[in-house]
Amino acid sequence: MAGLKISNLMNAVALPRKAHSQFSISVDEKTHAARLLHVLAEGEQVASTIALEQAKLCRHSEHPRLAKFLKQQSRQEKFHQLAFERGANWLAPKEHSGYRPVFTELENKLKQDIQNQDMTSSVVGLQVALEALGDAFLETLSARMEKRAMGLDSVMHLIIHQEIAHQNFGKRYLSKYADRQDISLLTADYMQIIDNAISAFQSSLHAIDIDDAPYRTAVNQQLYNAIEISR
Ligand SMILES: [Fe+2]
Ligand SMILES: [Fe+2]
Repeated sequence: MAGLKISNLMNAVALPRKAHSQFSISVDEKTHAARLLHVLAEGEQVASTIALEQAKLCRHSEHPRLAKFLKQQSRQEKFHQLAFERGANWLAPKEHSGYRPVFTELENKLKQDIQNQDMTSSVVGLQVALEALGDAFLETLSARMEKRAMGLDSVMHLIIHQEIAHQNFGKRYLSKYADRQDISLLTADYMQIIDNAISAFQSSLHAIDIDDAPYRTAVNQQLYNAIEISR
């Protein structure tokens, strides 16, 4: 999305003005769906902040293309955040006031990685673990929205496409620069942190008939794959 303004992209998030009365979605279901969109938006905000910090870490490396990609990722995550916030506010305008952050522990760990200049650990946390969770999230949410005609699906495909590029960046990075033993140690930490985050919002998943178990499995699988692709 280089060269495109976020405000222009946001105009593509076309939400029907009178949607609340058009679709048969209960108030309770809208509230829980909005809460999940806020969770997604929070994850995107963490991703945007950390990707920019990763770009700064890579700025002076012999691979300037890493920093360029990460800056672009940061801009894209910001766009995703705004899109999901818009969707959440459209569904349930007052829901944000009751929202409690679920990614604080993950954000703190990632910030610690940046402070330690540990690029490998931050890639496992962001481009593998958080992206895997986001991926599982988008898949169920996208299917649910298409079924319910809830509006965000026009940009969902673009967002999913960009998330795949972020995950592929993580895979390439780990296969080139990371040791298998390091990744094995890192994955246990990140699995626990993501597990705690899922527990924090699983009641909202259950409320709209989404099982949390596949989310944990998806992240676990991607972390296991990260070990396999490292050197
Ligand atoms: Fe994103
Ligand atoms: Fe991403």
